[in-house]
Order: sequence, then C-alpha cells, then structure tokens
Amino acid sequence: MKITVIGAGNVGATAAQRIAEKELANEVVLIDVVEGMPQGKGLDMYESAPVEDFDSKVIGTNSYDATANSDIILITAGIARKPGMSRDDLQTTNAGIVKSCTEQAVAKSPRAIIVVVSNPLDVMTYVAMKTSGFERNRVIGMAGVLDSARFRSFIAMEMNVSVEDVSAFVLGGHGDTMVPLPRYSTVAGIPLPDLMDQATIDRLVKRTRDGGIEIVNYLKTGSAYYAPSSSAVQMIEAIVKDKKRILPCAAYLQGEYGLKDVYVGVPIKLGKNGMEEIIQIKLTPDEQAALNKSAEDVRANIAKLKL
Ligand code: NAI
Ligand code: 2OP
Repeated sequence: MKITVIGAGNVGATAAQRIAEKELANEVVLIDVVEGMPQGKGLDMYESAPVEDFDSKVIGTNSYDATANSDIILITAGIARKPGMSRDDLQTTNAGIVKSCTEQAVAKSPRAIIVVVSNPLDVMTYVAMKTSGFERNRVIGMAGVLDSARFRSFIAMEMNVSVEDVSAFVLGGHGDTMVPLPRYSTVAGIPLPDLMDQATIDRLVKRTRDGGIEIVNYLKTGSAYYAPSSSAVQMIEAIVKDKKRILPCAAYLQGEYGLKDVYVGVPIKLGKNGMEEIIQIKLTPDEQAALNKSAEDVRANIAKLKL
C-alpha cells in the first residue's frame, strides 16, 4: 500500500503523520510545491518512527516521480480560509491547483483512489473527477465525516456523555447549507429529538454549520486541521482495510436522492474499491428540500468553473 498526500500544509502533514502512525501504508509520500518543506516534514515524521513504533516510510518531495503507483491519493493542496472568507471564496484559486495536482498525480498512478479535502469541497471533488476521468467510485470528497464529528462533539459536550456513544449524520454540501439530521443522530441508540428540546437541537445544528468558521476565527491565519485530518484518515482506513464502513462523504450522484451530475454529501459504503454503494435513507420532505437546496448551491458553483 502506497499513499500520496498532496499539499504538505496543516491538513496534509497531519494526515500523513496519522497515516504513518496507524501503519496504513508501507510508503507515505508527502508532496508540495514549496521547495524543501515536504522533505523536511517527511524526514522529521520518519524520525518519530522509532519512538512512535511505526514502520511506514515517509518521503517528502516536490516531484510526482516519487508518487508513482500510489493506491490512494489524498488531495489537500490549495489555500485555506482566513477570517471573513467563505469556502466559496477559495474556488477559482483552488480549482486551478486541484486540476494541476490531479493531472500530475493520475499520470503516475492511474489506478489510484482519490480522496479530496481542498475547498470548496464538493466542487473540488468534481474538478478531480472530471480531470482524472476516473469512475465515480474512485473520486470521493471528505466533509461529512468532519461535519458529523463536530455535531457528535457538540452533542457529547451538551449532554456530558462519552463521544463513543454518540453517532450523528450530516449530509449535503460542505458549506452553510449542510444538512445535519437530528432524527438520524443518536446517543446510545436513542434519537436526539427524544433527548433534548428543539431549541437545544437548533443551537447545536447551528454550531455544527458554523464549525469551520468558529476555528478560523480562533486561529486567524488558517483553518481547522486536527479534526479534518482525522476525518480524511478514517475514510482512508476504511478503504485500506476494506472495512465497508458507512460514512457520509461527497459522492457523485446519478439519480440517487433525486439528484444528478453533482457532488454532495450522502452516506456511502467505503471499501477497497472506494465508494462501493450509495446508501439511500428516507428523508422527510423538509430534509429532502434542504438537501436539494444544498445540491443546487454546489451546482451553481460548478457552473462557474472554467476547467
Ligand atoms: P495549508 O495552507 O496549511 O496547506 C496547503 C498546502 O498546499 C500548502 O503547503 C501549499 O504550499 C500547498 N499547495 C499549494 N498549491 C499546491 C500545488 N499546486 N501542489 C502541491 N501543493 C500545493 O492549508 P490546510 O489547512 O492544509 O488546508 C488545505 C485545504 O483543505 C484548504 O483548501 C482548506 O480549505 C481545505 N480544508 C477542507 C476541509 C474539509 O472538510 N473538506 C477541512 C479543512 C481544510
Ligand atoms: C472546515 O470546515 C475549513 O472546511 C474547513 O474546517
């Protein structure tokens, strides 16, 4: 197993470290345009191997030659948000970056599965699919795992319970129109609406929607990366270990949920072939309307792309 992480910034470097520490690959390649930086981070990470006790090799590079024959490519390259910016403000710059990274990476690794993190997530995953020419099962976006993890954390904090007993589902695009689903969110199997009043649910849903900007406003110079890298690595682990996990991820829809030709967050089965199935859950009319609205926002941004 060989995994390439493109973009050795906050998300990419932290993801590479988590991949190595979990020994999800024999070889982890960290690539960036900044000269020396991926080499330095890669070597530093590998020097932690004797202490952390992992045997994954970590290599930093500026050349795609070192990425050849990767099984998984994680794309984190691009600019991140600063206070006052929406994820959509990143679109033009990051579309060019994701297109160029995808072209160079797939030329060396034509059988890889691509996981995209760069924002705006749903649109960048579309860029990676169109650029690679890969089938939809091999190009998946990370956002739902992160948004659901945030919702789970906020529920656990509110109820003073272990996060282990909390599960949650957030669907839709990774933006202001994301669709947290309280009905499908549970504590020890008990649905959220049976555990707290509507005003509390609404407050936690709003905090989840604003979860990204809450961190940006604290950091001021960039955006979240600990939970985002964990979330991307959870997807990668499901693929590497063929776990058949059901996780909310950005998938290219071709009629599922009544939506077509658009990337949006839905529950999928993740295994060795990437996205192996889209799970269609029954939505109420309000939930379906919220998903439609979120997909329309993604579609409008895709229409602005000049690929
Ligand atoms: P960062 O600024 O720390 O790292 C980005 C890295 O990409 C930099 O090291 C930069 O040199 C590199 N880069 C730029 N152009 C490149 C190219 N052509 N080839 C290779 N590398 C290139 O940013 P951070 O925090 O790591 O975020 C990365 C991206 O992920 C951002 O677009 C951010 O908005 C997004 N993000 C998405 C999340 C999600 O839930 N989908 C969560 C967190 C971040
Ligand atoms: C987040 O939600 C920036 O999209 C990223 O933290």
